[in-house]
Amino acid sequence: MVAMLKFASPLLDAETIAAVGDVLRSGHITSGVWVERFEAALSAFCGGRPVRVVTSATAAVEIALQLCDIGQGDEVITCGQSFFTVLNMIVKQRATPVFVDCDLVTRNIELGRVAARIGPRTRAIMPTHWPGSLVDMDALYALARHHRLRVIEDAALVIGSRWHGRPIGAIVCNDADEARRVEVLRFHGIERQRDGTRDVAFPGGKFNLPDVNARIGVAQLERLPAFLAHRRRLADRYFERLVTEPACVLPPRPHGDDGQSWNMFAVLLPLDRLRITRASFRDALAQQGIATGISYEALHLCTLGRRFGYHRGDLPNTERIADCTVTLPLHAAMTVDDVDRVCAACADVIGGSGQQPAAH
Ligand SMILES: Cc1ncc(COP(=O)(O)O)c(C=O)c1O
Repeated sequence: MVAMLKFASPLLDAETIAAVGDVLRSGHITSGVWVERFEAALSAFCGGRPVRVVTSATAAVEIALQLCDIGQGDEVITCGQSFFTVLNMIVKQRATPVFVDCDLVTRNIELGRVAARIGPRTRAIMPTHWPGSLVDMDALYALARHHRLRVIEDAALVIGSRWHGRPIGAIVCNDADEARRVEVLRFHGIERQRDGTRDVAFPGGKFNLPDVNARIGVAQLERLPAFLAHRRRLADRYFERLVTEPACVLPPRPHGDDGQSWNMFAVLLPLDRLRITRASFRDALAQQGIATGISYEALHLCTLGRRFGYHRGDLPNTERIADCTVTLPLHAAMTVDDVDRVCAACADVIGGSGQQPAAH
């Protein structure tokens, strides 16, 4: 029987596992020295500005919105093609999400449509960077500066990506004061007073990273360049070998080493030319031992998104992606042969279910 190829899988070597054992034996597993080391390493990786780590990208988005003082009555412009985090965290701050459509191929927010949605209550633009192609940072920041808006980049998918050589990702703070505010927000809002007592002025969260996780982070960050290079090889192989008839819409193909991280390989199935549904495509791959995912549903059409007055048809590209997308396995624990296996299975399932030409 063929081994199940997982949709995503961590690559933890024996040294990392042993190092975690050392932390567990140290008697200190909550935030401590390893968090400081992880933050220092990430800061060096991200160009030297202060970095603060939290327990998830969702926590990072929540804290970023709080740092920007976004709350009741404010609007945040974002993309309908992203993970639920984006919608949830805006709504949790009692702000209003304003959805803009995305490009069908890069899946990034269509910046050309943003200006028309900016109004007196708009406070920030929150785009998600897609693997393989970042949001145009020059255009994004020019737009934000012109309208005096904050920018919160959801970089959950793209650690290691670079824009004209500049790194993307993590909570990278503007200065030491902002870093201090993150420290308060990630730990209950607690501020220590000079006399040793504690005060809370704003209800913070409990998002401090334990040292166990930070130790894994330090080890993974050391291996990140190798992971990125390997993921890049896997993506290149998909571009070479994923040939189906009818064709899938693929992500933008990289040219040379363009500094993009490949967190996932999401394609659009040519469903209008197939006799099968996406669910049956995924079942057929699962039967061949290949797990797949869906990234993402249309945020404006989920029950929470519709509460803000959105309907089917409002964001055509976002909706088409939501209906036809499938994410193929791409992770550091995979081999090039695994990619070949996925490509052969896709060609088989799609080729076997193409619509017959109409009889004349
Ligand atoms: C684009 C995007 N943003 C944010 C998140 C949230 O990440 P986390 O699970 O670390 O909270 C995800 C998770 O899948 C994501 O895909």
